[in-house]
Amino acid sequence: MKICCIGAGYVGGPTMAMIAKQCPDIPVHVVDLNQARIDAWNSEELPIYEPGLHEVVKEARGRNLTFSTQVDAAIEDSDMVFISVNTPTKTYGIGAGRAANLEFVEKCARQIARSSSGHKIVVEKSTLPVRTAQAVKRILSSEAKDLTFDVLSNPEFLAEGTAIDDLLDPDRVLIGGESQRAIDALSEIYARWIPRERILTTNLWSSELSKLTANAFLAQRVSSINAISALCEATGADVDEVARAIGTDSRIGPKFLKSSIGFGGSCFQKDILNLVYLCEHFGLPEVAAYWEQVVTMNDHQKQRFSERIVKTMFNTVSDKKIGVWGFAFKKDTNDTRESAAIYICRDLLRERARLTIYDPRVSEKQIRSDLTYACTDANGQISASDQEMIANNVTIARDGYEATSEAHAIAVLTEWNEFKELDFERVYQSMLRPAFLFDGRNLLDHDRLESIGFEVHAIGKSSQRRRAED
Ligand code: UDX
Ligand code: ADP
Repeated sequence: MKICCIGAGYVGGPTMAMIAKQCPDIPVHVVDLNQARIDAWNSEELPIYEPGLHEVVKEARGRNLTFSTQVDAAIEDSDMVFISVNTPTKTYGIGAGRAANLEFVEKCARQIARSSSGHKIVVEKSTLPVRTAQAVKRILSSEAKDLTFDVLSNPEFLAEGTAIDDLLDPDRVLIGGESQRAIDALSEIYARWIPRERILTTNLWSSELSKLTANAFLAQRVSSINAISALCEATGADVDEVARAIGTDSRIGPKFLKSSIGFGGSCFQKDILNLVYLCEHFGLPEVAAYWEQVVTMNDHQKQRFSERIVKTMFNTVSDKKIGVWGFAFKKDTNDTRESAAIYICRDLLRERARLTIYDPRVSEKQIRSDLTYACTDANGQISASDQEMIANNVTIARDGYEATSEAHAIAVLTEWNEFKELDFERVYQSMLRPAFLFDGRNLLDHDRLESIGFEVHAIGKSSQRRRAED
């Protein structure tokens, strides 16, 4: 058995590294069109940050794990081809803003058809709309000459930041397919390190739909608790207390009840919109509207946070320095796709604030490009004033202290552990008064911060009532 994976991103890279680690006898070849990304995978500075990943890559690279841009040769040489390319939301044409853009998947299918002979097992790893496997099968059978194939759906449930643990010890592995032989071949690989009872097999369509559904349910929990956070702020209830109270009900459970500035990441919004589009396509407008509300609530949560900052700071942040801690969509990753921080920073900039941003893993280039993208309209245009604002009013800091020195306020946008370890007396001394702190992740010890002198505003906590009671 030889494996090839097309796409060396956040999913393909770590997943293949783990398979190669666990199966030293199976050659695993990861290919990508992006030369810079492949060079990084072959270097000491991997293109993605993920705790524990470097060790896994180091163990297998050069032994049975290879990274290259030789897409055709790798396909040709393998028995099993994973498709792990990006499937962003379409930005143009039919289904714009909702449907998944399957251009890259389709190109892969065509490439597999062109470069293959004999029998191949083609595995969909990217999250795809239900019935994509049908399209992949059609392309393979219409283009291929000497090829027979089986298509499997094997969606990824790893979360960024914990990908290595999720791959080592997953709750389940899901394999959907039609051919028992192909399902068995893939199951054998996972069974090297995952107990058989956790390897679930379904038909192709259930597998494709389960992935979208899992993400929709998880995102729905975050939007549900965030909806309650708004009510907590208005009533004097505390969202963390409410989350604890309901999370101890074993039917509800404690996970994914952490209120925040809103969910981000490459999957949740994209997958829900994809589900919405599918529902509409199948003539189910009420079902579509039900799921769309999860995204609407998430947008509202981001907007509510920036508005609260402006309102609290005497209704203006114009020319005020706001120190921003964190830009990634969550801790322990350098990924910023759909990060709530992007939209909050954009809205504060449009209120004329000056932002000094610090994130332990996100580069200056990435931050500037995300903000530029967030200010770009549907026609690809960005106004001169937005461009100027990003150039002049955004500074990147090297650490948390530099970000907040001489600042009017701090906004905590990502829950990095290192922010908890800062010397808050020092931070407070370096700031202007009143020293506002907006904790968008309910990360810090608010009682302690208030005793130092900070004016703390947190998600789902009514600051005014707290102060009035003191
Ligand atoms: C998610 C799914 O968890 C994973 O199974 C799937 O394969 C891909 O999508 P990921 O996007 O990496 O993974 O991150 P996840 O940990 O699910 O967090 C998503 C977003 O929700 C983050 O912005 C996070 O900060 C936010 N979140 C999560 C909350 O705001 N509160 C929570 O309680 C949990
Ligand atoms: P994900 O988070 O799903 O892994 P990424 O965007 O991080 O998504 O990774 C997808 C990778 O797939 C990118 O590095 C991109 O260059 C690569 N890719 C897309 N289309 C092709 C293709 N036809 N052949 C090879 N690589 C591709």
